[in-house]
Amino acid sequence: MEIREVAVVGLGTMGAGIAEVFARAGIGVVALEADPEALRHGLGILDASLSRAVSRGRLAASEQADIRARVRPAAAFSEAAAVDLAVEAVPERMEIKRQVFAELDRVCGPDAILATNTSSLSVTSVAACTRHPGRVVGMHFFNPAPVMRLVEVVSTVLSDESVPAAVAELARRLGKVPVSVGDRAGFVANALLLPYLNHAVQLFEAGYASAADIDKAATEGIGLPMGPLGLLDLIGLDTSLSILEVLHAEFGQPRYCPAPLLRRLVAAGWTGRKASRGIYTYADGRVVGGDADVAGATGGVVPDTVTLIGRGDEQEADFASALASAGLSVTRNPAHPSDLVVVVAAEGQPVLPAALAAGRARQAVGVHFPGGVRDGCLAELIRTSLTTDVTMAAAHALAGKLGVSVVQAPDRPGFLVGALLYPHLADAVLMAQQGYASAPDIDTAMTLGCGYPRGPFQLIDAIGAAEVLTGLRAMYIAYGNPGFAPPPLLAEHAAAGIDFAAAGRAAAS
Ligand code: 3HC
Repeated sequence: MEIREVAVVGLGTMGAGIAEVFARAGIGVVALEADPEALRHGLGILDASLSRAVSRGRLAASEQADIRARVRPAAAFSEAAAVDLAVEAVPERMEIKRQVFAELDRVCGPDAILATNTSSLSVTSVAACTRHPGRVVGMHFFNPAPVMRLVEVVSTVLSDESVPAAVAELARRLGKVPVSVGDRAGFVANALLLPYLNHAVQLFEAGYASAADIDKAATEGIGLPMGPLGLLDLIGLDTSLSILEVLHAEFGQPRYCPAPLLRRLVAAGWTGRKASRGIYTYADGRVVGGDADVAGATGGVVPDTVTLIGRGDEQEADFASALASAGLSVTRNPAHPSDLVVVVAAEGQPVLPAALAAGRARQAVGVHFPGGVRDGCLAELIRTSLTTDVTMAAAHALAGKLGVSVVQAPDRPGFLVGALLYPHLADAVLMAQQGYASAPDIDTAMTLGCGYPRGPFQLIDAIGAAEVLTGLRAMYIAYGNPGFAPPPLLAEHAAAGIDFAAAGRAAAS
C-alpha cells in the first residue's frame, strides 16, 4: 500500500523527530498534539533541527520551507481521518496509549496502519484493545530520530502479515534500516541498552568511579559515541526508568532493577537534558560544572624511576618502551626504592596480590590498557585498598607525561571498561542464545540504533570470546550477580576458539 499521509500523535522529542523524518521523505504529516504548549514546543524542536541542518549546509533553505509546509499541526483526532498510517509517540503509559489507539481506531479508515513508537510496552496489549488488531504494529525509532538509522518493526501474533512488511518498506523509503522483531519487552536495542545504562548508574551511585570517568571509559575505552550517563540524559531519565520497570517486570533479573539514584533523580524532576538537569547539569545544551575531583587525581609529581611488575606480556613490554621513550628509568627490582610501583594488570587478575608480593603496596598502582598501548590510548589506573593518594597523584602525573588518557577504577574485576562492557556483551549473547534475534541483527540494531561503531558480537570477536569470558567469570565470582553469569553460548565460542562472524559463515555454508 502507498503511504502518502501520516499522523504523528504526540509531539515530544521523539514525535517531533519522527514528524521530521516523514516530512523530509516527502510525506504529509498531521502533527497531532492536544496540548497547545506541547505543540508549540514540539514544532520548536522540528524547526531547530531543520535550521541546524540548513546552517550546516545539509539542507537548502527552500527545502526547509517545503518540509515545514508538509507538517500540518492539529489538535483533534478527527484531523487524522484520511491518513494511511498513524504513529503514536505519547508518554510510555499503557492507559494513555490505549486511549490514543481507541481514538485512532475510531477515526482512521479500516485500511490505515496504526503503529506505536513504544520503547518497551506490549504492542500486543495495545493491538488487542482495537477493533482491527491485525493492522497494529510497533514502529520504533531511536533518538535523535532524524539521525539514527534503525527502525525496529514489531509484529505481534495478531498482526496481518502484510502490515509489518509495509512498515519495513516504508522505513526503507525513509532512508532507515528496518529490523523485524517479535513483541518482547525492550525489543532488541532497549533490552540491551537499558541494563547497561542502569549498571553505569549503579557504579556511579556506589562511588565505583566518577561520572566523567564512566562516560570516558565508554567513549575512549569502547569507542561508543556517547557515555552511558550522558546518553541517559539524552534519552530522558524518566523514559529510561519506565523502560527499566517494564523490562524488570518481564524478565525479573537484577540487571533491570532500576538503580535507586535513577528513581530519586526522576522524583526530583531531574529528567535529563530536557530539564537542563539529570546526571549532569546543562546550560544551552552543554554540560556545565563537572565532577568533584577524584581523590589523588591532581597535584602529583612525575616519578623519575618506576618499578614495573608484570607477567612478561605484550602490554608490559609496550608500556616499558613507552616509559623509556618518555625518558623515565624502569626497574623490575621490587627492592629498588623507586618513586612508584606500577603493576601491569591482566583481565580477571586483581592488582593487590602482586602489589603485596612486591612489598610496597602503598606505593603501588595498577595499570590496564583496554585497547593496548598506543598513541592517545586510554589507561585504567587501578587503585587497590592500600594505594595512597600520593601514589595515585604520581600515577596521574605519569600518565600526563606519557600523553595517556586515564580513568580511575578500583581493583575489582573488569576494572572500569570491562565492568561496563562485559555484562552488556553477555546480555547480547544471551539474547541470541534465547533465539529472540540473530547475532547479525543484534549488531545491526546496536550500530544503527545507538551509533555503536561495532555491534556487540563484532566487539566480542575483536576482544576475543575467551578474554570476555575470563572477565565476566571474574565478575560473576566476585559479585554473585546472576546478570554476570557467562552465557553457555559465549563459553562455547571461547572453547571452540571460533568467532561469531566465522560461526555465521560456517553455518551458512
Ligand atoms: N536532531 C537532529 N539532528 C541531530 C540531533 C538532533 N537532536 N543531534 C545531532 N544531530 C545531527 C547533527 O545535525 C549532525 O548532522 P550533520 O552531520 O548532518 O551535520 C549529526 O547529527 C552529528 O551531530 P553532532 O556532530 O552534533 O554530534 P555527534 O557527532 O556527537 O553525534 C549523536 C551526536 C548522533 C547523538 C551521537 O552522539 C550518537 O549517535 N549518540 C548515540 C545516540 C543513541 O544511542 N541513541 C539511541 C538512544 S535509545 C533510544 O532512542 C530508544 C528509545 O526508545 C529510548
